[in-house]
Amino acid sequence: MSMRIGIIGCGGIGRTHLAAWIDAGYTPVALCDAVPGAAEALVGTTGATAYTDVAQMLADAQLDIVSICTPPTSHCALTIQALEAKLHVLVEKPMAPTVAECNAMIAAADRANRLLSVGFCHRYQPQIVALKEALHDGMIGTPMMFRNRFAGVMPDVHQRWFSDPALAGGGVIMDTCVHSVDLFRYFFGDVRRVQASATTRATDLGPALRVEDSAIITLTSLDGVLGVIEASWRTAPGVWAVTVFGTTGSLTMNYNTMQLVHQNTEGVATTLPIADGDRFSAEVAHFAACVQNGGALRVTGIDGRQATAILVAAMADAKST
Ligand SMILES: NC(=O)c1ccc[n+]([C@@H]2O[C@H](COP(=O)([O-])OP(=O)(O)OC[C@H]3O[C@@H](n4cnc5c(N)ncnc54)[C@H](O)[C@@H]3O)[C@@H](O)[C@H]2O)c1
Repeated sequence: MSMRIGIIGCGGIGRTHLAAWIDAGYTPVALCDAVPGAAEALVGTTGATAYTDVAQMLADAQLDIVSICTPPTSHCALTIQALEAKLHVLVEKPMAPTVAECNAMIAAADRANRLLSVGFCHRYQPQIVALKEALHDGMIGTPMMFRNRFAGVMPDVHQRWFSDPALAGGGVIMDTCVHSVDLFRYFFGDVRRVQASATTRATDLGPALRVEDSAIITLTSLDGVLGVIEASWRTAPGVWAVTVFGTTGSLTMNYNTMQLVHQNTEGVATTLPIADGDRFSAEVAHFAACVQNGGALRVTGIDGRQATAILVAAMADAKST
């Protein structure tokens, strides 16, 4: 069955969604961006119609699915608008900056009887999927600790919406730690304790921001797995990695090499044979399959809301200390 796909927000990740939808076999038919010319710039050879007005696109384009790829504080209103137009919605992360907005989005999806998913793309990265399976299979015994660092240099961050709380709803915690928090929940489920420290520094990369640019979050899962999350927009890239340490070994997804490495109790490291794959293509293909075949979503609105609840708690804890 062919489906009609639209994209709202034609910036960086809108471009990624466009490529992913095409790669998955669904060429989008409608692209919308509030800035005149931005949607046109993405049309290329797709034959898609470009819009600057969301309501007009929803009225005209006869869409089945929309990717929402705009800054975070716009996600709630745009998602509800699209659901009320009877579309299925894949909204980028974070789902929304507040739990109340997430709840309103979930309720709107229920009312419309349409699917709502959140762009937690790492759940579709083949090495992460394999890591989760290996945990389930007991490859490293009982999981004890989790560590994740996603950090790098965003030199122009002080000039972009990322550092404007009115558009971003927070700083690096809302932007980057949302992925890490979701990875922790993907592996270990809900959390019972959240602690955080955050900082905002003037560096040679730019002036101090209005939001935190670097953060550490610690999490405790309901059954006692401990997690450490590190994120920054201001540090040299270093290693991007997710490691889970268990009683009989560890598993590391190294995003620099895109390899999943197992270490046994003697410290012997083995790279597991996992074929790399594009997480965004897998994400949109999964969403389309759920819409068409009624399968269970890998990322639900509840997952989006639980991640936001953790981020809100982390930001509050970081501000209190
Ligand atoms: N999954 C990931 O790995 C990933 C990576 C980057 C960004 N993101 C998320 O994607 C979202 C967008 O980020 P980006 O980097 O693409 O930002 P961006 O600034 O590059 O693009 C956002 C676009 O949205 C448009 N826009 C804003 N409000 C609009 C509205 N109401 N209607 C129509 N268009 C509107 C802007 O004009 C802009 O072109 C954010 O939520 C961000 O956190 C996710």
